[in-house]
Amino acid sequence: MDYGLKSASEPMHVDRKLLYTSLEERIKYLHHFLDFNSSDVEALMTGSKYIKQLIPAVVNLVYKKLLEYDITSRAFHTRTTVIETEPEEDYLHEEAPQIKRRKMFLRWYLTRLCQDPTTMEFWRYLNKVGMMHSGQVRRSPLNIEYIHLGVCMAYIQDIWIEAMMSHPHLSLRRKIALVRAVNKILWIQNDLFARYHVHDGDEFADEMSELSFDDREGYLGDKKILGSSSSSSVDDDRSSISSGVAPSTHSAAPSSNPAASKTSVCPFAELGERSSTETKIWAN
Ligand code: HEM
Repeated sequence: MDYGLKSASEPMHVDRKLLYTSLEERIKYLHHFLDFNSSDVEALMTGSKYIKQLIPAVVNLVYKKLLEYDITSRAFHTRTTVIETEPEEDYLHEEAPQIKRRKMFLRWYLTRLCQDPTTMEFWRYLNKVGMMHSGQVRRSPLNIEYIHLGVCMAYIQDIWIEAMMSHPHLSLRRKIALVRAVNKILWIQNDLFARYHVHDGDEFADEMSELSFDDREGYLGDKKILGSSSSSSVDDDRSSISSGVAPSTHSAAPSSNPAASKTSVCPFAELGERSSTETKIWAN
């Protein structure tokens, strides 16, 4: 699909089949629709420090929430929300070793969200997380119904918005940029959960190119890179104000598209070069 400039009257063509058979094309469409651009990438790169600071609290709150209801808590015994039989052993609590191990998975995942979103690897990982909760993985399937995944994403988003907007030192401009960028990613992840639960495009199921044999077998792999994400050297706005220098000039990340400085195979890296849009919703 080509999202180049078109005349105002001519809509951009989106190939329906490709949305189901090509992960790249699906992601390209979602990016374009959401206007995921260089401002979002810069906000993520320069703000990863703040995201990382929130990870332990987010993980604890999410697990507390999931253990609050029998239907979600049971999934940590049975790997499914479909079967309602009570587990033979006691319900797990937050300090149980199994839950501590799973908290680590979620921490890895959230750390991964702080990495470079201009690579296709980044979105492939999010897609694998989506698929692995859908019961479609053959070895030890994990079947979490969409209602729980959707509401869990909304819960993470709610924590995120509250935490970012109440940050004591960041400027409103940077808060807005970070909230917007992370929300776009969370909604794309939400799509990558939903796509394995809705039946849209089922007629193309045999042609889904991105699901390799390994994916079907499960396991997200390459966890070793998760701990190694680069941390931003950008300080918060309190210190940048006191030093009299605008935050972006401290940035370890390039101010334009970071993909340009690396060889990226990401087919939509150039999307990051589009200029940002603001809704200007309160302008009048
Ligand atoms: C919606 C946001 C969610 C995210 C981002 C998420 C993320 C993850 C990740 C990254 C893993 C580890 C995969 C691996 O490396 O093998 C995982 C495993 C798991 N998730 Fe989720 N999850 C979410 C929601 C849920 C919900 C709502 C439930 C239950 C109701 C759930 C139950 C599980 C279970 C049981 C495992 C397997 C743990 C194991 O193998 O020991 N997840 N999840």
